[in-house]
Amino acid sequence: MENFVSQLPTKIIFGRGTEAGVGAEAARYSKKALLHFGGSSAEKSGLLARVRASLAAAGVEWVELGGVKPNPALSMVRRGIALARAENVGIVLAVGGGSVIDSAKAIAVGTLAGRDIWDFYSGAAPEPKEALPVGTVLTIPAAGSESSGGSVLTNEEGALKRALNADCIVPRFSILNPELAMTLPAGQIANGAADIMAHLFERYFTNVGHVDFSDRLIEATLRAVIAVAPRILADKTDYDAWAELMWAGCLAHNNLLDRGRIGDWASHMIEHELSGIYDVAHGAGLAVIFPAWMKYTLSHDTARFAQLAVRVWGVEPGYFDQEAVAREGIARLEAFWKGLGLQVRLSGLGFGLDRAAEMARKCTEGDAFTTGQFVKLTSADIERIYRLAE
Ligand code: NZQ
Ligand code: ZN
Repeated sequence: MENFVSQLPTKIIFGRGTEAGVGAEAARYSKKALLHFGGSSAEKSGLLARVRASLAAAGVEWVELGGVKPNPALSMVRRGIALARAENVGIVLAVGGGSVIDSAKAIAVGTLAGRDIWDFYSGAAPEPKEALPVGTVLTIPAAGSESSGGSVLTNEEGALKRALNADCIVPRFSILNPELAMTLPAGQIANGAADIMAHLFERYFTNVGHVDFSDRLIEATLRAVIAVAPRILADKTDYDAWAELMWAGCLAHNNLLDRGRIGDWASHMIEHELSGIYDVAHGAGLAVIFPAWMKYTLSHDTARFAQLAVRVWGVEPGYFDQEAVAREGIARLEAFWKGLGLQVRLSGLGFGLDRAAEMARKCTEGDAFTTGQFVKLTSADIERIYRLAE
């Protein structure tokens, strides 16, 4: 794949060596940045040194805040907001994966907001309309936060993991160099692939009719991920395979593929309760929850599940036993994820069901409400899904 530039509306700067241009991109917005990053991977790989050199060369001053953990925490965001205000920064630059980018988005909102940042995640405040500009240098194809309007934070008090969706936090630019992902451990590669596939499934399972074009876009993207993820695990230096996965991961979550559809998103909500409490990686949790959700909701639209099985997993169409075709598709998904080294049962992650009822209730925020659009799930349904995932 050749380098290219695209804007969807995030300006995507894609390809080898592209992080060298981060300073010039940031300078278009401000001469002072908050440089935000995670644990140690970006420092160890030399990426942060290259980012700092690029900022300096472009005349951008910066202050640094590292240490974002997976499933990013509210307390880190509060520190970032205080720093951004004290230093009067004009852009938040995230170097890392979904966790760093989501933390950066929260800081971008909170710096300008006249109220507590958690209000935007808890639902106490309406969608924010302004934020500092956010730019990203992506290091893992997974969450799709590099061009999405989403940000997911964990409030350590109450282990609440909640999402904010807002137009003002869609990154202004994202630098996607597939080479930067080559240092990822196998487990994170598999988690990322599962998350990308989950973003496609969430969009695929819709009750809206006459969406054949976007069905086929989603199916094609799934097939591309299924083709390249094992290649990457076999050879982490396969640039071409990484390039496919990174571009697919970005488009899987920036809403290009789901125009005119209403996606489901229950599995994401059900997973967020898991990673909020147990600190399991988001993709790893999805690999357990999604097959269980599929089995639970299959009868709602067996034809749609069978279509996926035939077009994506190559199951022979069965005109008389659509349900068997649909179930074979789910079995192939589980086998594929297992082949990537993922667990597809809660027990495989080392968890029991002791907190299933509590998680189910938190997920719907009470027994009177539901989660999901394709099938509206009550807390009792969600508890059954956790049980199916056991
Ligand atoms: O902290 P470091 O040392 O950088 O290590 C990270 C982290 O431990 C490591 N890593 C990242 N790039 C690396 C690397 N290690 C070696 N080489 C590299 N190139 O990978 C680990 C995981 O990073 P993280 O950022 O947590 O991964 P991911 O991108 O999967 O993000 C997960 C978070 O995104 C949220 C999830 O809920 C979760 O909190 N999501 C955000 C969404 C959004 N904003 O639109 C949508 C998603 O559905 C998702 O919910
Ligand atoms: Zn996700």
